[in-house]
Amino acid sequence: MKRKKKIAAFTMSIALVGSLLSTGAVPASGNEKTPSMNTSKLLNVAHRGASGHAPEHTIPSYQLGEEMKGDYIEVDLQMTKDGTLIAMHDESVDRTTNGTGLVKDYTLEQIKELDAGSWFNEKYPEKADSAYEGIQVPTLEEVIQTFGTGARYYIETKSPDVYPGMEEELLRVLNKYHLTGVNERSSKVFIQSFSQESLLKMHNLNPNLPLIQLISYKEPATISEEELQELSEYAVGVGMSASKIDETYVQQVRNAGLLIHPYTVNDKEQMTRLLDWGVTGMFTNYPDVLNDVLHGK
Ligand code: G3P
Ligand code: CA
Repeated sequence: MKRKKKIAAFTMSIALVGSLLSTGAVPASGNEKTPSMNTSKLLNVAHRGASGHAPEHTIPSYQLGEEMKGDYIEVDLQMTKDGTLIAMHDESVDRTTNGTGLVKDYTLEQIKELDAGSWFNEKYPEKADSAYEGIQVPTLEEVIQTFGTGARYYIETKSPDVYPGMEEELLRVLNKYHLTGVNERSSKVFIQSFSQESLLKMHNLNPNLPLIQLISYKEPATISEEELQELSEYAVGVGMSASKIDETYVQQVRNAGLLIHPYTVNDKEQMTRLLDWGVTGMFTNYPDVLNDVLHGK
């Protein structure tokens, strides 16, 4: 990870840390060699919804994620030409809609004309459902309005360099729906990004937000104590490709008192291995499969 300017201090409130600790969402202490932690609630993050079953980042996909008892709805964000945050993984609409071109060149009205479901029926005829035909790309606000403030959201700022102001707009939406705090079980949102700059911006806008630093590794992952220390100043955890890590890496992160949520884990064997290594949750396109593993089925 590139070194960026140091932020002033690790300012996450004691109340937030205490609340997360009580749920096992955060390891109990970074000072112990092996942090003790209530692992009864390992986080099952429905990656782009239950996107192994339904078109990613659509209401039906998120709905299935909830029905399959995902703990968090994962939402990737892009921003329209007129400044609305929408749920989409790619900067371009080409892969997941019937349109072409970049999201940044579309107004919200134009985005809403696109069909975000038929591509899935064509690509996965065995999973096709006529209900997916013609479904719209949801805005972040529509997702929150649909699933409410009782649901939990794991939101990623995608391509923040392309969308100046996306962090401020995200915070405006989170504030509007009172999603910036924590409830008695855990945080209502995690904010994740591969961009350290974007996370630092979020941290400066609201130091109480639980942030997850995504890290892209080309080689097998290693992490230094210095990097872990720097991460701990603004983030509560890290996410990275499950295929790049090993048990040593997981334990290093846990010993630093950070959460570790690898992506994207779709088969039972890999889920079991990661749980044995001590991850605190994971992203999956199949929250139903992860729940089977978590419940020993
Ligand atoms: O956010 C975790 C994981 O989703 C990162 O990869 O490309 O699926 O957003 P991506
Ligand atoms: Ca993502």
